Amino acid sequence: MAKEYKRYLVTSALPYANGPVHIGHLAGVYVPSDIYVRYLRLRGKDVVWVCGSDEHGVPITIKARREGVTPQDVVDKYNAIIKKSFEGLGISFDIYSRTTSPTHRVTASEFFRTLYDKGEFVQQTSQQYYDPEAKTFLADRYITGTCPKCGSEGAYGDQCEKCGSTLNATDLINPKSTISGAAPELRDTTHWFLPLDKHEAMLREWILEGHKEWKSNVYGQCKSWLDGGLQPRAVSRDLDWGIPVPVEGAEGKVLYVWFDAPIGYISATKDLTPDWEKYWKSEDTKMVHFIGKDNIVFHCIVFPAMLKAHGDYILPENVPANEFLNLEGDKISTSKNWAVWLNEYLEDMPGKEDVLRYVLCANAPETKDNDFTWKDYQARNNNELVAVLGNFVNRAMVLTAKYFEGKVPAAGELTDFDREILAELPKLRTAVEENIENYRFREALKEAMNIARLGNKYLADTEPWKVIKTDEARVATILNVALQITANLAVVIEPFMPFTATKLLRMLGVESLSWEQAGSSDILAAGHTLGKAELLFEKIEDSVIEAQVAKLQAAKAANEAAAKPVEPQKAEISFDDFEKLDIRIGTVVEAEKVAKTKKLLKLLVDTGIDRRTIVSGIAEHFSPEELVGRQVMVLVNLAPRELKGIESRGMILMAEDATGKLVMVPPTEPVRNGSQVG
Ligand code: 2FM
Ligand code: ZN
Repeated sequence: MAKEYKRYLVTSALPYANGPVHIGHLAGVYVPSDIYVRYLRLRGKDVVWVCGSDEHGVPITIKARREGVTPQDVVDKYNAIIKKSFEGLGISFDIYSRTTSPTHRVTASEFFRTLYDKGEFVQQTSQQYYDPEAKTFLADRYITGTCPKCGSEGAYGDQCEKCGSTLNATDLINPKSTISGAAPELRDTTHWFLPLDKHEAMLREWILEGHKEWKSNVYGQCKSWLDGGLQPRAVSRDLDWGIPVPVEGAEGKVLYVWFDAPIGYISATKDLTPDWEKYWKSEDTKMVHFIGKDNIVFHCIVFPAMLKAHGDYILPENVPANEFLNLEGDKISTSKNWAVWLNEYLEDMPGKEDVLRYVLCANAPETKDNDFTWKDYQARNNNELVAVLGNFVNRAMVLTAKYFEGKVPAAGELTDFDREILAELPKLRTAVEENIENYRFREALKEAMNIARLGNKYLADTEPWKVIKTDEARVATILNVALQITANLAVVIEPFMPFTATKLLRMLGVESLSWEQAGSSDILAAGHTLGKAELLFEKIEDSVIEAQVAKLQAAKAANEAAAKPVEPQKAEISFDDFEKLDIRIGTVVEAEKVAKTKKLLKLLVDTGIDRRTIVSGIAEHFSPEELVGRQVMVLVNLAPRELKGIESRGMILMAEDATGKLVMVPPTEPVRNGSQVG
C-alpha cells in the first residue's frame, strides 16, 4: 500500500538568472511540475509549490564582467524577465523567490553554520590558481589555455569546448587569467568539504533499496554514482559573489552555488508561509523535486546528504527528472542562442500559451531526449488541438445553440451506445490520474485528449445534424451527452491547458469544477444556460512557422558571426602611402539599379569636386531611394573602372560586419561636400 501523505511540497529547479527561460527548461521541469501541482490543487490537496531564481555562481559574474555591469544588475534583469514569462505561460508557483533575498542569505548561512558546528564538514587545503594582477583566486571558468587533449586554443579550466573533454585547470598548457590576461600562479587555499563518503551507506539504502520505483534514468544515475564511490565535495569557493562563508577566517570565500541553491527551496517556503516547518520537517509531507537530468546528482545525492547531516529535514519522496529537449535536431544552447525563448514566444505568439504547453507535454523528454520542431508544433496544433479538441467542443456548443437556444437539453432514455460512451469517462479520468501521479505526463495528456476523441466519435456515430430532421428528442439526449463530455474535458484538461479550461468553463457557463466531478455524466443540469461559444484554437499557417524557423537561423548566424575573430591587421604602410588616398565626403544625388545585376547600383555623387558616376556593389543592402540625399565617404582618386559598361570613378566606403552586412559610415553631422577625410 502506498503511504497516504497529509500534504505535498513540490519544488522545481531554480533557473539561473543569467538568461531567459527556454523551451528545454519548460519541457523538462516547469510544464510537468505545473501539471502535477494544478492536478493536486484540483483534488483539494494541501500543496505548496516553490521556485525562484538561482542568482549566484561563476557564470553570472562572467556575464556581468563581459557586459560591464554588476552581477546584481544581471540577476535583477533576468529574474524580472523569467518571473514575468512564467506568469505569462500560466506556470502557477505559489512563490517565485530569489537566492539573493535576505531570507535566503540567513537560511543558507544558518544551514552551513549548523553543519559546521556539528562537525559535518572536513577542511582541506589545496593549491588553486591565483591571478597575481587581479589579486584573486580564479574559478576554473576564468582560466583559459591550450587543451592538453586536442591542442586547441581557448579551452577553459573545467572543459574544452572543442573536443568536449572535462579538464582540471592545472592540465591547461599556457594558462591565462581571463580577468587580467596574466599567467596565474598556484597558491594554497582552504575550503570546507561535505564528506559524501560518510553518507554513502545511508544513500545506498535509501535510494537503491528504498526507491526502486524512481524513474529508471534517475535510479540508474544514482546507482552509477554510488557504485563509483562518493568523494568529499567542496561547498565553498574563492569568489566575490555569493553568500559569505559564515565562519571566522573565511574572508573572500562564499558558499558554493550548488550548496546554497537547493536551500533556496527552504527559504522560498519560509517566505511563502509562517507554517513552513510543517512542509519541511514532517514525515507526513510528500516532497517531490522536479529537475532536469543534469541536476540529478545534486538533488538525489548532495542535497539529501546535506539535509541528513543537518538532521531536521525530510528527504524527497521522488525526483522525477526529465531528459533533454533538442531543437530542430540540435542541442539547445544558451551561449549559441539556439533556443526558443519563452519571453519571445509569448510576444510572437499571443494567445497561444496552451499550444506551447500542449506541444511540450505531448513531446516531453520523459524517458529519452526528444526533439522540438516548429513543423511538429504546427502539426500538433492543426491536427490535434484544432481538429480534435476544438472541433468537438465547437460542434457540441454550436448545435446546442442552434437546436436548443443554448440551454442544456434534458436527456431522454439512453441507448446502449450512449451508456457505453459514458462508461468510458470514469475510466479515462482514472487513467489521467494514475499517469499524473506516476509522473507520466505525456500519457496523461493523451488520455485527456481521448475524452475529446470519444466525443468526436460519439457525434460522428450519432449524427445529430441528420437526426434533428426526424427526432428532436433523440438529439436532446445526444447533445446532453456531448455536453457532459465537454464538462469532463473542462476539468481534466485544466492541469495541461489552463487557459483553454478557463474558456471552456466560461462557455459552459460554470464558475468552477472540481476533479471529483470528472467521470460523471451529469455535471451539467438540464435547462442550464450555456455561455457563448468561443474559438479554442485556430489553424497555424505555414508562414507563421517559416518566420519562426527563419528567426532561429538568423539568431544562430548572428551568433556564429559574433564569435568569428576580426580580420588580422594588414601589412604596415608608410604615412606617404596613406597620404596618397584622397577620401572626401560627398552626397548621393541620384541612384538606380544597374539592369540585369543583383548587386550593382549606379550612383551620381556630388563629391564637391564634381558630379561623377560611381558603380557600387551595395544593391542588396540599400535601396536607391534610401541613398539619395545621403552623405557618404568616397575614395575619389581610385583609378576609373568599367563595370557592366559603365565607367565608375571612385569607391563608396562602408563597414562590413562578420555576417557580410554593409553599414554606411556617414559623418555624424552634415559637412560640406568635398571635405577631406584623413
Ligand atoms: O541547473 C540549473 O539551472 C540550476 N540553477 C538548478 C538549481 S536547482 C536547485 F538546487 F536550486
Ligand atoms: Zn580539447
